[in-house]
This record gives sequence, structure tokens and C-alpha cells, in this order.
Amino acid sequence: MFENLFARKPLSLLLEEMEGEHRLRRVLGPVQLTSLGVGCIIGTGIFVLTGVAAHDKAGPALILSFVVAGLACICSALCYAEFAAMAPVAGSAYTYAYATLGELFAWIIGWDLVLEYTVASATVAHGWSHYFQNFIGIFGLSIPLSISRAPFDIIPELGRLGPTGSVLDVPAIIIACIVTCILVVGIKESASFNTVMVGIKVAVVFFVIIVGAFYVHPANWIPFAPYGLTGISLFGHTLVGQTGHGGEPLGMLAGAAMIFFAYIGFDSVSTHSEEAKNPQRDVPIGIIVSLLLCTVLYIAVSAILTGMVPYNKIDIDAPVADAFRQAGLPGAQFVIALGALAGITSVLLVLMLSQPRVFLAMARDGMVPESFFGAVHPKFRTPYKSTILTGCVVGVLAAFVPLRILAELVNIGTLLAFVIVCAAVLIMRKTEPNAKRPFVCPMAPFVPISGILLCALLMFSLPAENWLRLIVWLLLGFFIYFFYGRHHSVMARRRQKAQADLPAPVSLN
Ligand code: ALA
Repeated sequence: MFENLFARKPLSLLLEEMEGEHRLRRVLGPVQLTSLGVGCIIGTGIFVLTGVAAHDKAGPALILSFVVAGLACICSALCYAEFAAMAPVAGSAYTYAYATLGELFAWIIGWDLVLEYTVASATVAHGWSHYFQNFIGIFGLSIPLSISRAPFDIIPELGRLGPTGSVLDVPAIIIACIVTCILVVGIKESASFNTVMVGIKVAVVFFVIIVGAFYVHPANWIPFAPYGLTGISLFGHTLVGQTGHGGEPLGMLAGAAMIFFAYIGFDSVSTHSEEAKNPQRDVPIGIIVSLLLCTVLYIAVSAILTGMVPYNKIDIDAPVADAFRQAGLPGAQFVIALGALAGITSVLLVLMLSQPRVFLAMARDGMVPESFFGAVHPKFRTPYKSTILTGCVVGVLAAFVPLRILAELVNIGTLLAFVIVCAAVLIMRKTEPNAKRPFVCPMAPFVPISGILLCALLMFSLPAENWLRLIVWLLLGFFIYFFYGRHHSVMARRRQKAQADLPAPVSLN
């Protein structure tokens, strides 16, 4: 029984499958892969969550929060890159876990990736809605409160959930529908659309840094860490440092745990390995270059934002655009809000593009029903059924669940996936020491172990209820695995076949 749960899919089988038919088309080069990475990274995290993190959690020490979260991601990215180059098939961390830690862990990661991509998409759709409302506000327009946000949200002064006066977030639903339609039509079209969007948002980020630098008042950086420089927590319970009204951790690390969301997405490059022209070389390039670029830009943007506006006056809905409004630059606010809308759209595009590809990898392994999740559209050649399902779930979550709750849930799930990937690199080095590694994570075991420790530190710094939400999510996943995946998986099928092929016992009579 336990053998079955920990059955590993051999690396040789993964590589063999890669050569098979019915694979996705190999159309992506290093620039497109890096662009997909940046497309998925710069979005709601930097344009929206920086506001809450600076205002409620870290103050100007948010700059250091970006450094710490960036370090955790760089260690994890180097581990991802080693795996992505070894087994460049769709499925990302899910596939790596199947090869190293066995079926049950693979399922946990795959289920975690659903959290990362689908729930993050809902978070991002909310961020889009905030900037959309900020943008039309420039022209004196607004949408009715009842259809402008989720019906409940965390009230920081009370430290608990309360009604917002709204019923649902309609702009978030609309953008989820539009992106779903684009994705059903196809990857090539999606990649070019993404490249344009990425160009726009990187230009806007440079604009924020260069123009904003002239409006920085160094006095705003003092006090630098109003909520404390670190704050050490265990499972969301603060051991050392300040806490908020609801007992949640505050300080630089709590800020890092929240804005970690801004870095999510570099790993999505590895879900496109199967569409890469030269995956062994280009996927590691895509992962590492996109992450390094965004880390530098984020540190600069957070310094500018906290330098332009006193931390307690930073807007929590559309902080970057609003900082320029407060500086008396409505023209700049217009440019930034428009750029943020384009940027956030491209994040949504890549996240919602990645989810069906993870499902596809899981369907091929029999972990989820192949007839649905493996179905490819006869004309567009896209996994249309799972794309539409993803779009529907994103729409519903974005309509009714508030941004902060969604973001924290995504963070804890993704951090767990990163911990498992870092550990898997160490395990794989022992179990498959001679496997071909076109990219080798440098300074092992230091880098993977640092990745594990930093990600765990961030998980511990998230408010306690996230652990409960993570456990509920995992239990739901186990339920599905034990009722479906365990009996239909590729390894279960191999076992059944091996048993059927055994010679019948010889009768002695
Ligand atoms: N990193 C992505 C964003 O910030 C998910 O929107």
C-alpha cells in the first residue's frame, strides 16, 4: 500500500513520453519564455499588494521585504531550473515530484499548483478590477458599489472580516471571461499578445522609477520599520515582535510573506517546457532572467513608493497610481493605471494558460480524468475544456472572495510547493546521481537548504488561519486522490499490467 503511494515515475519514462505523439507544438524561444515569466510576475503583487503591505504590515521596510522574498524565490528558482532542464515536459513541479518523491507528493504538488494558478488568477482578477475602477475614476466615472468588490473583506482596524456593502465584483468576472476566450483560441496568439502587454508594463515600471525618483522625500523613509524590522512567528503566532488587531504577525517578514505574491509566476515558465524549442537551455534562462529582472525592479519601485508617500497614507487599492495623484501628477496617474491594467491582464493570461497545462500533465498520468482534462480542441489545439473550467472557477472566486484572503492562501500553497521542489533537488541528487543535468543548481546543498528555510520562514509569518485553510485544501485533495487518482494513475496501471502479465501458477496435480 505505502509502496504504491510513493511509487516514482522513472525519469526514463518521462523522457520517453516526451518523444511520443500528441505533444504540444515547440514554438517558444528564450525571449518568449523570459517574456512569459515577466508576463506572469509583474502584476497585482507590485501594483496592488504593495499598498496593503506597506500601509498595514511593514512601512518603508517593505524594501527589505522584497529583498527577503526575492532571495527565497531565487533559491527556489535555481532548483526549479535544475529540474526543468532535466525533465522538460509540461507539468512543472508536479512532474518533478512524481519522478523523485513519488505519487502522493506529486499529487500534493499538483493540487498545490491548482491553488497557485487558479486561486492566484482570481486574486489577479480582483487587482485588475481595482485598477480599472481607479482608471475610470480619472474621468469622474465609477461603477455602483454593489457590483464593485467582494461582499466581505478583512477590516484592519477590527482584525476580522466584515461586510463591504457590495454583492460581487463584476469587473473581475468580466476580465476572467475575456482572458478565457483568448486562451481557448490558442498559444501562439496568446504568446504574441503577452509580448505586447509585457512591453507596456515594463515601460510603465521604468516610468514609475524614473519619474517617481524626482518626487521622493527621504523623510518619508523615517521611521523605516514602524512595525518592527523582523518579527518572528511560528504557524502565524508571533513569538517576537508586534501583532495586529486580530493577532496577525506584523513587521518586515510579515510584509515579505504578503508580497511574496508579487514574485509568483517565474515557475510558470517551466510549465511551458514542452512548448520550448530548446528547453534544456532556454527554460533555465527564462526562469532565472525573468526573476532577477523583476527582483531589481520591485526593490526600486518599493523604495520609490514609500519615498513618495508616507507609509500610512499609501492607498491600498491602487497604490502606485495613487502615489502620483497625491504628488499632483494626474497625467502620470493615467499612464500608470493604464499600464497596470495591461500588466495585470498579462499576468492573468499566463496564470490561466499555465493551469490547464498542469491539468494536462496530470491527466496524462491518470491523476484526473483524461477525457476531460486531456481533451484538446480539434481546431485550436488547446486544452479547451480545462481552460473553460479554470475560467469559471476564477470568475466565481474573484466575484465573491476578497483579494487579501485569496493572496495569502495562494502564498502559503506556493511556498509549500517551493519547499518540496528544493527538497526534491537534494533527493534527486542522491537517487539519480548520474542523470543528465543540463543545468546544475549552484552551491548545493546550500542553495536548496536556504530555499527551504526561507520559504518556511515566510510560511510561518502568514496569519495563522492560513494554515487551517491550507490543511482544508490538502484534505480535499487527498479525498480526490484516494477516490480517483490512486486507482487510475499511470503507475497503478503499470502495476496492474505487470500483475496480469505474470505467468499463471503451475498446478501440481
Ligand atoms: N506575481 C503575480 C502578480 O503579482 C502573480 O500578479
